[in-house]
Amino acid sequence: MTIDKKFIDQLIEVSSRAAYASSHIVGKNDKIAADKAAVDAMRQCLNKMDINGKVVIGEGELDEAPMLYIGEELGTKNGPDIDIAVDPLEGTNFAAKNLPGALSVISIAERNNLFHAPETYMNKIAAKVDQKNIVDLDFSVKKNLDNLAQYKNKNIEDLTVCILDRSRHKKIIEEIHNNSSKTKLITDGDVAGALLVTNDEFKVDLFLGIGGGPEGVLAASALDAYGCFFQGKFLFENKNDKQRAKSMGISDFEKKYSLNEIVSGDSIFCATGITSGDLVSGIQSYDKSFTSETLVTHKNSNFKRKVKREYNI
Ligand code: FBP
Repeated sequence: MTIDKKFIDQLIEVSSRAAYASSHIVGKNDKIAADKAAVDAMRQCLNKMDINGKVVIGEGELDEAPMLYIGEELGTKNGPDIDIAVDPLEGTNFAAKNLPGALSVISIAERNNLFHAPETYMNKIAAKVDQKNIVDLDFSVKKNLDNLAQYKNKNIEDLTVCILDRSRHKKIIEEIHNNSSKTKLITDGDVAGALLVTNDEFKVDLFLGIGGGPEGVLAASALDAYGCFFQGKFLFENKNDKQRAKSMGISDFEKKYSLNEIVSGDSIFCATGITSGDLVSGIQSYDKSFTSETLVTHKNSNFKRKVKREYNI
């Protein structure tokens, strides 16, 4: 089954309006308010869509989030059964501090085709390769870099690896430098970080490291449209994590998920800039309108590009 192309435009508007709502709170040192503005706007727009939607990745469980909680049903119910994954404000620090890279992100897929990811960390790897066994979560940093250099016909010293700048990644970062490759260290925002492998213009060859599980699923849905490689392994650190995972149907806590185990079938992904970043430009506000830039992918129609739109306020 294919998700109707008419939903592409509607979804661009959903993430654009969420980004616009959040843009008013950028730089106010208030992560919660910036997130809430994006959540409210996103939910309002989704409820107007002719879909029978269900949130699979959202703001948390019902007891934690009043809106866009996991399991919430959205849309007019006059349309196809759709799974929805949202991160209305990806990069809450960026928005609070008025830094580049804050995004509103959403992905939809046919029912039961988006992984119901627990809110735990995920170890991730992504690259623009169309074969297995070039890069892999189980390989050493050196093996991944050697294989990728050979695959891309590049010198290992010309490879750049994007990774979150966290103390948990100290050893990996050292290994990258010991192998003479370069790093692009990001302070937040690993949905965008993973997507930097999709296009040579971003000069990133490999994305590695531990970040949010929900962010991993969102990135995977865009990477699928780009024909990229992605693997993710959830990290269940305590009993509570494991219990939650079990209730979501996960029994193998050590499993390494391939891209198509995380997202399958058709999907649409939209990431709209709130503040300008590597991936897309931020919101521009005018008297009666605003403009947005959104990275959009639609798997089945092979649509993947940045789209600029103007909307009335
Ligand atoms: P928020 O938008 O929820 O603040 O997440 C930002 C982010 O950088 C994600 O992109 C990333 O997956 C995660 O936080 C990393 O978590 P941590 O800051 O705990 O390392």
